[in-house]
Amino acid sequence: MGVSPSRPQSRSLPHSNTTASRSVSITNKKLSLTPDSEGIKTGTLPSKSNLREPRATTIQADNVPANTDSDSEDSYWDLDINFKPEVGVLDAIVAKAWHPNNPSTKPHDLREYHTIDSSDYVFPSDEIEQDRIELIHYLLRHVFKSDIICPSVRNLMDSAKHCLKVLDVGCAKGFWLDSVQKVYPKAEYHGVDIAEKLINGEHAPQRAEIVFGNILDRLPYSDNSFDFVHQRLLMMGIPKHYFPACISELIRVTKPGGYVELIETDIILGNMGPIMEKYTKLCHEAMTIRAGVDGYAATNLPFYVKVQGKAAAHRGVRSVRIPLNWNGPIGKMAADGMVETLMAMMDWLHLVLSISRKEYQELVDQCVQEWGPHKTFVTYQVVYFQVVK
Ligand SMILES: C[S@@+](CC[C@H](N)C(=O)[O-])C[C@H]1O[C@@H](n2cnc3c(N)ncnc32)[C@H](O)[C@@H]1O
Repeated sequence: MGVSPSRPQSRSLPHSNTTASRSVSITNKKLSLTPDSEGIKTGTLPSKSNLREPRATTIQADNVPANTDSDSEDSYWDLDINFKPEVGVLDAIVAKAWHPNNPSTKPHDLREYHTIDSSDYVFPSDEIEQDRIELIHYLLRHVFKSDIICPSVRNLMDSAKHCLKVLDVGCAKGFWLDSVQKVYPKAEYHGVDIAEKLINGEHAPQRAEIVFGNILDRLPYSDNSFDFVHQRLLMMGIPKHYFPACISELIRVTKPGGYVELIETDIILGNMGPIMEKYTKLCHEAMTIRAGVDGYAATNLPFYVKVQGKAAAHRGVRSVRIPLNWNGPIGKMAADGMVETLMAMMDWLHLVLSISRKEYQELVDQCVQEWGPHKTFVTYQVVYFQVVK
């Protein structure tokens, strides 16, 4: 399938020019590290020795060097933009900060968020967020050359004699569903998301049936309902220890002999500069305290699938490292997506960092400045398998 890296024009984001260069002062402040339920220290970047190496077919973007991140267990956060957390206070800051699950604490000028109790998902659900998701959708289509990565699923869709049923979990406004439907118009398309506004709103896609569904609960379908189940970029909505259970739920709603395809990204980038590394370290720690996220969800995805045992057969893995702000138009597009991602966390993260919105934007500007010179890259990984029951 021919895929263009461009996407339709979308509205501009409410953030500052990311090419500005500003200075940062440095101090040393030690943060608390709290053991989580698995006994792993939250906020500590996993050392490479703790990560199991996936057997992946790696498609490496041209000139992306091997990851040379340090294995340092340094627990000092020393970036100071009026941000001075004391020892042991980050948990309290995260707990106190505004939370979508508690709308009564929401200031007026914030963006729109889901409001369900059972999810700590931090990203907004408004139209600006849909623009971000759409950009990343087009980026991934271009990089993977298709919306469906698993060759067996493409063969199945090409040769189907009966109407196949396809489900997208965490479908947002339905960009992936729309794209796939254009190539395979005869299948029946379904989507679930926790963002109720998208489901009932004027922008809900016409060609798919999208309903409320939370992968952290039971999906609203009976066993063996779908021929193909797709789930992409839910790592901020699924706590690390829930991942295997969520994949089991995907298997439950898939027919025997049907397929599941998952795509995740690592929150922790490769080849980070010092400011990006510090931003990531704190952001990851805060996200871990708040939502138990896996900073290496993409890297760990094959192992979350592997624990499904024989239910997940004929597994395939593909990974890609996409340059940020270097190596041509894809690097530029990926950088735009990453800026939008960092800005999408601003409402919450600037409170956690105890800095103003303007200072947060300046911090993002400084991170952007580092990506090119440091050859920073973002990792995505796809895992697909056939369901055996
Ligand atoms: C980063 S977006 C990705 C959207 C889409 N999968 C794509 O790749 O184009 C994540 C989506 O997952 C949804 N989401 C987050 N937590 C969820 C959950 N527990 N169950 C279902 N959807 C969830 C969000 O509302 C959001 O629309």
